[in-house]
Amino acid sequence: MINLIYFSPTKTTEKIVSQIAAAIADTDLQRYDLTRMSTDVPARISAGTTIIGVPVYAGRVPAIVLERLARLQGDGLPAVLVVVYGNREFEDALRELADVVTTKGFHVVAAAAFVGEHSYSTRQQPIAQNRPDQTDLEHASAFGVAIRKKLSVSKQPAPPSMIPGNVPYREGVVLGQIAPETITERCVLCGLCASACPTFAISVIDQVLTETAQCVMCCACVKGCPHEARVMTHPVVAERRTLLAQNCRQRKEPQWFL
Ligand SMILES: Cc1cc2nc3c(=O)[nH]c(=O)nc-3n(C[C@H](O)[C@H](O)[C@H](O)COP(=O)(O)O)c2cc1C
Repeated sequence: MINLIYFSPTKTTEKIVSQIAAAIADTDLQRYDLTRMSTDVPARISAGTTIIGVPVYAGRVPAIVLERLARLQGDGLPAVLVVVYGNREFEDALRELADVVTTKGFHVVAAAAFVGEHSYSTRQQPIAQNRPDQTDLEHASAFGVAIRKKLSVSKQPAPPSMIPGNVPYREGVVLGQIAPETITERCVLCGLCASACPTFAISVIDQVLTETAQCVMCCACVKGCPHEARVMTHPVVAERRTLLAQNCRQRKEPQWFL
C-alpha cells in the first residue's frame, strides 16, 4: 500500500511523485491531493509507505502545506520525502520537511530534491522550462526502485545518512501582497483560473476577482489559463523572473538521499 500526499499547483511535483510511487510498487495507491483538498487527509495513516511531495517556496516548505498537513500522524510508518524546486536552490526545504514529518511520527527512509519548471517561468523568460522531462522521470523511476530495494531488506531501514539544509531555516516568502492579474481583452470568463487556485482566492462571474491577501503566488491560474489571460507582472516578480532566467540556466539534476 502506498499513500501519496502532495501539494502541486502547477503539477510538476505531482508528476514526479506519481512516477516514484509507480516504481516503488505496483500495489494499491491512495492519493491525497492537498492542492485543492479534494481528498481530505486522514488524521492517522495506519498502513503502507507514505510519499510526501511539496514544491520549494523561498527555500522552504510552503506555509500552506504545513497548515494542510497539520493533523497528520504517521504511527512509525516509512516516509519518502520529495521537494521539487525551479532550478535555483532547495536550501532548507528538505531538512524542514524531514523535521516536520519526523515530529509527526513517520520514519523517514528516503528523501530527494527534483527540478520542475519554475512557477514564474514564461515562454519569453524560461526557467527550467518543461521539467520534469524524460530524464527527470527516469531518475524518479530509478529512485523508486532504490527505495523498493531498501524497504525489502529491512522493516525498519536506516534513515538517510544526511539530509541537507540548515536550522534555523531561511526566512520564508512574504505573501498576501502580490497576485496575478487578468488581461480582460483575452479573458473569456471560463473560470479555469478559479478552479485551479489552491486557496480559492479567485471568483469569476462577470469579471475575474482575485483576493490578493489569499494568493500564495503559485501561478496555477497563470499556467492553467488556455488564453494566456492570467499574468504575473508585478514588478517584484518581474525583476525576480529576469534574475532567475539569467542565473539559473545551468541544468541541475535530481539528488537523492537514501
Ligand atoms: C512563491 C514561490 C517561491 C519559490 N521559491 C523557489 C526557490 O526558492 N527555489 C527554486 O528553485 N524554486 C522556487 N520556486 C519554484 C517552484 O519550487 C517550482 O516551480 C516547482 O516546480 C513548483 O511545483 P508545482 O508544479 O508542484 O506547483 C518558487 C515558486 C513560488 C511560487
